[in-house]
Amino acid sequence: MRREISVVAGPSSVDLATKVASCLDADLLPVDFRIFKDGETKINMSKPVGKNCILIQSTYPPTDRHLLQALMMLKKSSDSGSANILAVVPYMAYSRQDREFLEGEVVSMAIVARLFECVGTTRLITVDIHSPTSLSYFSIDVRNLSAISLLAKYAITNLKTSHPVVVSPDKGGANRAMEFARILQADMFTLSKRRDMRTTEVFVEKQKLNLDIAGRDVIILDDMISTGESIVKATEFLIEANPNNIYAMCTHAVMIDGAPEKIEAAGVKEIISTNSIPRASAKVDLSPLISREIASIIEQAAIR
Ligand code: R5P
Repeated sequence: MRREISVVAGPSSVDLATKVASCLDADLLPVDFRIFKDGETKINMSKPVGKNCILIQSTYPPTDRHLLQALMMLKKSSDSGSANILAVVPYMAYSRQDREFLEGEVVSMAIVARLFECVGTTRLITVDIHSPTSLSYFSIDVRNLSAISLLAKYAITNLKTSHPVVVSPDKGGANRAMEFARILQADMFTLSKRRDMRTTEVFVEKQKLNLDIAGRDVIILDDMISTGESIVKATEFLIEANPNNIYAMCTHAVMIDGAPEKIEAAGVKEIISTNSIPRASAKVDLSPLISREIASIIEQAAIR
């Protein structure tokens, strides 16, 4: 595979790209970049990318910078003659703006999908994208991988919980939490969360729990933690039922506005996320999952 496949390490995902290149025994191409004082990025891809290029760049904050950098590197690869250009974007920015929630809003995800295609991306891999609607805006082959089994494996091996209960902070995450609970052979329930679309404030509805969680460990599972408000509000509600330890697990730890501190202050014992975003909580490595998918694309002769 070496010489046939180049893994381009985007500035936001150098560590993950290095791990994926090593799993695939592929060449790793570091990227030279510079951020000017006005915030613009200059990218220099001086090494030839070759015919088959895999760019790894997660689009977490600073979102627009990371997104534009991804587009620049993909365009350069395409202009340099790469025929197969696979973008690996573990955290897909703008996937929460997948529809016009309030009249007049721009459906940002539709534009982001078009941009990836415009610069010559031929395939895209992402992980636990916020909603299937986001995927519908792409016309290229997009594979949405699930990190649920990796997160569940981590919980089983490292948290040593007894008789745990899995909680989804909202109905949108119910299927994800159900799958996670199935692997853990744990009980599961869903809270009812509402977000004020104008102020973005989060409310968790006070509800009578059908399950007694007193003295039991609770794992709150979400696709992402951004401001931490969803986890904080869920924790504040659950804590009234006297659980033992509360853990927060997610695929994407966006973590803005002091989210980790707020979550810990609310009573969460530990936050665990994947390395889709390099954060202190990133204890679950996605490289085997991503590499397996790339290897299967190669094997199916999708990349030649
Ligand atoms: C929303 O539906 C998502 O699944 C997450 O619950 C949400 O994006 C987390 O955001 P925050 O941490 O700002 O509450």
